[in-house]
Amino acid sequence: MTAPSPSDGSSTTHRCTTQRCVVVVAAGSGQRLGRGIPKALAEIDGRTILEHSLEAIRASGVCGATGRIVVTVPRDDHRLSELARQAGAQPVVGGATRAESVRRALEVLGQGPEPTGVLIHDAARCLTPASAFQRVAEALDQHSAVIPVVPVVDTMRSVDDTGRLQGTVDRTRLRAIQTPQGFRWPLLREVSAAALAAGLDDVSITDDASLVERFTSLAIAMVPGDEEAFKVTRPLDLLLAEAVLAHRGRSRS
Ligand code: CTP
Ligand code: MG
Repeated sequence: MTAPSPSDGSSTTHRCTTQRCVVVVAAGSGQRLGRGIPKALAEIDGRTILEHSLEAIRASGVCGATGRIVVTVPRDDHRLSELARQAGAQPVVGGATRAESVRRALEVLGQGPEPTGVLIHDAARCLTPASAFQRVAEALDQHSAVIPVVPVVDTMRSVDDTGRLQGTVDRTRLRAIQTPQGFRWPLLREVSAAALAAGLDDVSITDDASLVERFTSLAIAMVPGDEEAFKVTRPLDLLLAEAVLAHRGRSRS
């Protein structure tokens, strides 16, 4: 039997009892991981990155038991779509860039009942603790845009156009930005449309909150992120993820 293809976003409408929805971007190819499969299909402790991510979102309760979760998947994918559906989420074909994937997911969300807030999350941050989701969701009650941040631990230097070293950057003034990032729905829709209308190069959109800064004067609220919300990017990150899960398992028993 052929597995159903992911929706192009035109047909399915999932009702939600809460007004908070989650977009999980999982359409990337995982070049830096180098497995030759979409990164979200790579396994940690016998389960895929996407399954870990969806489980964490459900455990956090940020969108309620029946809240909408939209998952972007690569074109021609079947397996990730199937995993998304099994978890009660809606698969949507993503784009060539993360920004395009987010835009496609938002189009689908816009076709259903309007949420008040949306959390956008990298599937690759698959061990993000429930508490990190909850901090963003709670801050969204007070703010229009929320990002989780962590301190930078390395010494940072900037370089000039030729790659020559410039001065050391004061790292106490730097923050690394994680996901989920939270937005009130009208704002997210507005800045997403503005980026499209402005013809912004998708590759230059490294995160969703940067659009809020670019097209509005609204302040973005920060909440503490979590070290365990690291993004699985390179092979070493998979080893780290295995170790984190093993540690969690030991702590439970
Ligand atoms: N993503 C997406 N659509 C894309 C590119 C990325 O939905 N066209 C998602 C990825 O699946 C990932 C998140 O955005 O969960 C962050 O991207 P990244 O870590 O860069 O993942 P990949 O693009 O898959 O990895 P790489 O850049 O190494 O190829
Ligand atoms: Mg990428």
